[in-house]
Amino acid sequence: MNLKRKLQAMIRILFLNGPNLNLLGKREPEVYGRTTLADIEAKVRERAKKSGAEVDFRQTNLEGELVSWIQQAKGQFDVIVLNAAAYTHTSIALRDAISAVELPTIEVHLSNIHAREEFRHKSLIAPVCRGQITGFGFNSYVLAVEAALNVNES
Ligand code: DQA
Repeated sequence: MNLKRKLQAMIRILFLNGPNLNLLGKREPEVYGRTTLADIEAKVRERAKKSGAEVDFRQTNLEGELVSWIQQAKGQFDVIVLNAAAYTHTSIALRDAISAVELPTIEVHLSNIHAREEFRHKSLIAPVCRGQITGFGFNSYVLAVEAALNVNES
């Protein structure tokens, strides 16, 4: 195994999902597709397994729980992948947690937030994230694995 593969193999990625994402599959399928969050987790694990990366995959409807998980990630994970859902557009607390924890964080969305209602165009967390993957449906998450594996090169 070359050095790059070895480093990637050691990467621990924390996937965090915010409010209403537990309803994926049934929730507005014309916007979010018919893939459930469990299906997305399976696809993420399949992709991560190929590189030997470790994945923890969580969902909560509570803003404070997301804040706590971000805080606790220090030392436990190397990268956070965050779909903050509606809190993307409202939460200074999440933005402050990401800044405080100093872990590279990748923002993901299933839908293209810039092509939707104006209130979704603004992400309060984007300035403190490494980058944003938005609009590729469940593939946004698979692409986020790729981004996480290469985060030290960006
Ligand atoms: C979302 C986009 C948000 O605007 C919305 O509130 C969500 C899901 C997405 O993945 O497309 O709940 O984060």
